[in-house]
Amino acid sequence: MSDTLTVIDNRTGKKYELSISDGTIKALDLRQVKVNEADFGMMTYDPAFMNTAACKSRITYIDGDKGILRYRGYPIEQLAESSNFLETAYLILYGELPTRSQYDEWVQHITLHTMIQENIKTLMDGFHYNAHPMGMLISTVGALSTFYVDAKDIHDPESRRKQIHRLIAKMPTLAAFAYRHSVGRPYVYPDNNLSYTANFMSMLWKMTEPQFQANPILAKALDVLFILHADHEQNCSASAMRGIGSSHVDPYSAIAGAAAALYGPLHGGANEEVLHMLDAIGTKANVPAFIKEVKVGKGRLMGFGHRVYKNYDPRAKVIKRLADEVFEVTRRNPKLDIALELERIALEDEYFVKRKLYPNVDFYSGLIYQAMGFPVEMFPVLFSIPRTVGWIAQWEEMLNDPDQKIARPRQIYLGLGQREYVAMIKRS
Ligand SMILES: CC(C)(COP(=O)(O)OP(=O)(O)OC[C@H]1O[C@@H](n2cnc3c(N)ncnc32)[C@H](O)[C@@H]1OP(=O)(O)O)[C@@H](O)C(=O)NCCC(=O)NCCS
Repeated sequence: MSDTLTVIDNRTGKKYELSISDGTIKALDLRQVKVNEADFGMMTYDPAFMNTAACKSRITYIDGDKGILRYRGYPIEQLAESSNFLETAYLILYGELPTRSQYDEWVQHITLHTMIQENIKTLMDGFHYNAHPMGMLISTVGALSTFYVDAKDIHDPESRRKQIHRLIAKMPTLAAFAYRHSVGRPYVYPDNNLSYTANFMSMLWKMTEPQFQANPILAKALDVLFILHADHEQNCSASAMRGIGSSHVDPYSAIAGAAAALYGPLHGGANEEVLHMLDAIGTKANVPAFIKEVKVGKGRLMGFGHRVYKNYDPRAKVIKRLADEVFEVTRRNPKLDIALELERIALEDEYFVKRKLYPNVDFYSGLIYQAMGFPVEMFPVLFSIPRTVGWIAQWEEMLNDPDQKIARPRQIYLGLGQREYVAMIKRS
């Protein structure tokens, strides 16, 4: 016997059997619950998708209560320890770790697509000198759709594959160019003899030397940070990617929308906010007073809390360890002491304990980025580079899922009924 849920409608006395699969009922099955034939049928009300699965996915698994994050079944801690970003990207996109030849071919494809059209550079030049690099990234990745018209062929797997290579390869170039623009330095072209992260660092920081020598510890740290940020199942920007992509627009336009979602301070903008918060707190001695303010609702403790994790974010644990390695190379970020004190007090405080508010990925990542020399405006940009992999994986899965259609939520209309237009002269 299959699992069912029995619903009794007290309005009519009717009984309905709704089938349960994967622990869910189909929202559309509720539509049979009606008071009469003219009734539209029952809907669910779920603002912010607190309890609605919008897709079936095989990419990323999170158990928020236990603090578990896995890509395609592999624990994030193992990938951070043993994999590298491009290998993890392959895993996320294609479901399995690559063989040696698959890996070499994959890296080769990404490496060969790092250049961007010169016209994109001209577009970059048009931005104001103090333009936020994330605004520049969002605009220029969207603009790529005008250069790669074949990207509209979203139902052709070969075309999709090409856009995937281009997107993963060009995001660091766009990001680095946005940074160079903001500091008034000439753009540095990609160096295809360097690794993914070393090349990114070269495009950011190369001056007159023939080849940029990235510090291997910092390049490795950036690579690990990219692994940690590569996907996070149905978060705000992934949902935006799926939602926009469901209209069958090209992936560059959809990524621009996903990146815009990431820009917000409640999502990818949070690590930037953490740094602003630490600046505002100023010293360790001010931490208790700050916590007190948060508890009475004056602001939030940025980098704390998560819609899904009700335990320590597993990525935050890896990052905390990584911070020590990075600070061995750079000087210790003086804000770390304030952050550690905030964490210590918050983890003991009833307000945070009761609400299960733990440090999330953004709490420490900003400190590392800042110690490496990134200005805070670059933080969401740094997030977008690896998350591009997750966005594309979610997008492809959506396109290949026969259950999916154009995303189009319902509403509960609470506005006025029909009324007659009133000429302006007669309005009071
Ligand atoms: C991530 C976040 C948006 C999740 O929000 P959410 O799941 O909608 O949780 P809610 O906003 O309903 O919060 C639940 C309760 O915890 C409190 N809370 C949540 N995050 C908090 C924080 N960072 N500081 C203080 N209180 C917080 C809320 O005020 C609320 O309290 P209440 O029940 O007394 O009203 C939220 O925790 C937040 O704003 N965190 C700071 C921003 C951040 O770090 N974002 C990065 C996410 S990776």
